[in-house]
Amino acid sequence: MGQISKSDFYQLLQSRKSIRQFKTDDVPRDVLERIIHQAAMHAPSGKNRQNWRFFVVQGEKKNQYLKFSQKSWLGIKDVLQQRLKPSLYAFTERFFYTLGNAPVVIFAYSHNSADERYHTSIGSVYMAVQNLNLACQIEGLGCCTMGAPLEIKNEVDEFLGVTDLPEYKSGELELLCAVAIGYADHEPPKPSRQIENRITWLK
Ligand SMILES: Cc1cc2nc3c(=O)[nH]c(=O)nc-3n(C[C@H](O)[C@H](O)[C@H](O)COP(=O)(O)O)c2cc1C
Repeated sequence: MGQISKSDFYQLLQSRKSIRQFKTDDVPRDVLERIIHQAAMHAPSGKNRQNWRFFVVQGEKKNQYLKFSQKSWLGIKDVLQQRLKPSLYAFTERFFYTLGNAPVVIFAYSHNSADERYHTSIGSVYMAVQNLNLACQIEGLGCCTMGAPLEIKNEVDEFLGVTDLPEYKSGELELLCAVAIGYADHEPPKPSRQIENRITWLK
């Protein structure tokens, strides 16, 4: 591990931020394969089940997804209207309508099983998603993890063809989030981190 300095590592973690506006340039297939194979799939997982499942959506299929993204907005807009200032609310609404022109959306599912606790399965997939976020950062890509598709979970399952899979039919496949990916076309501020009341030290 001699090549990566400690400061480079922390810089990578701290420079990651959610990107919601992208250039229309495609992301090369080898880059997508690298961030999935060499980063996401190297996450730890409960009982090493590697229970993540990824559906990579691009091109016309991605364009077709936009109407689902617009629908997912309806489920969360009221909460956001109370939380965000008007300009940020308008920007977020636009993001849901266009996904910021992201050329790629990766949907992350968990293949749950009776052999593993539910939350362990879910956590394993989110660890893979975080690896994916960090790999995007080092590859010069931007990304935004989105829980919004959960608002219209069943429709997304159908749209992706997941409903035809035997593990879906047996109730084991569950959508957790989507990650919009592309080359960043804006430089948003990084939201600050709060330390207060987040850690309890015990001896
Ligand atoms: C599980 C999860 C779900 C999220 N869902 C959404 C979403 O639906 N839409 C969105 O614009 N951002 C979403 N985000 C991004 C957060 O808003 C963002 O991470 C947070 O505001 C902190 O900003 P940063 O990522 O730039 O540090 C999600 C993030 C996570 C981890």
